[in-house]
Amino acid sequence: MFIEINDLKKSYKDNLVVDEFTLEIDKREFVTILGPSGCGKTTTLKMIGGFLKPDGGNIIIDGKDITNVAANLRPTATVFQNYALFPNMNVIDNVSYGLKFKKIKKSEARKMAEEMLDTIGLKEHAYSDINKLSGGQMQRVALARALILNPKVLLLDEPFSNLDAKLRVKMREEIKQIQHKFGITMIFVTHDQEEALSISDRVVIMNEGRIEQIGKPEEVYKNPKTLFVADFIGRINIIEMNGEKRMIRPENISIDRQRGDFEGQIYDKQFKGVYITYFINSKYGTLQVDTLNSDIYEIGEKVYCTIKN
Ligand SMILES: Nc1ncnc2c1ncn2[C@@H]1O[C@H](COP(=O)(O)OP(=O)(O)OP(=O)(O)O)[C@@H](O)[C@H]1O
Ligand SMILES: [Mg+2]
Repeated sequence: MFIEINDLKKSYKDNLVVDEFTLEIDKREFVTILGPSGCGKTTTLKMIGGFLKPDGGNIIIDGKDITNVAANLRPTATVFQNYALFPNMNVIDNVSYGLKFKKIKKSEARKMAEEMLDTIGLKEHAYSDINKLSGGQMQRVALARALILNPKVLLLDEPFSNLDAKLRVKMREEIKQIQHKFGITMIFVTHDQEEALSISDRVVIMNEGRIEQIGKPEEVYKNPKTLFVADFIGRINIIEMNGEKRMIRPENISIDRQRGDFEGQIYDKQFKGVYITYFINSKYGTLQVDTLNSDIYEIGEKVYCTIKN
């Protein structure tokens, strides 16, 4: 296994914020740590990157135990949530900065930085003032600054959180292309479940410092092991049927005017673009049901619902 993380543990004073964090990652895998604010994602990533010392456990990368190795001597590079760019340097100096510590000649470093800027589409901004870039451009500079170090593992902490919805989606595609191009293993942190599901080979769902579930996006969505996971990833209806609690996704209930398993009445609806979410009062309580946007029902209408298998 390329990366082995065993039983990582971290407390701030007597507040245990990461516990029993165990994860194995393959070479070139894209793994996302997903969880609500404060669940310990950044703390975990900082321990992997060498910016925080764990209280217990160890981290092995490519056969080497790096638990006590300094950040700049690890085969990792980190893109921080706030970019952490140098405001007094132009774009190209920001990108080439880390090469100084790798004993690379200045002229060679400049050439490497120019090539990297070309790769990420910022060549024409090489000599721009860093403060005059947009959020998305700064994000790319932060990415370039990490990639130029040629890390075996790239750690990304909510790298797209400051971007608008459209740019976020574009950056998702770009990061995947970069991963394929450079063959890097990536550990990505986000609290955005849609982002996690769409970008990752596997997702690690954390809650209050512990891992709740690890799996492929389809697995964690379709077979959530815990109520927390089911509720955090996507939306669910919890229905009590024959004395048993069942978790049913909104897309797994159908509605019809003529026939179905049980009655309901539409009390609200939300247009979501591709689909519509209806809120339906029924003997099982209020249910969320997603339909295609061509299925139009009015508020107050009586319908029949069927739970799909
Ligand atoms: N330097 C610190 N000193 C004390 N407590 C801290 C420190 N850094 C983080 N914590 C606490 O540790 C817990 C985990 O924090 P962490 O930053 O890892 O969460 P996160 O999952 O990254 O959250 P977010 O999504 O908001 O970035 C939180 O309860 C936080 O308040
Ligand atoms: Mg964080």
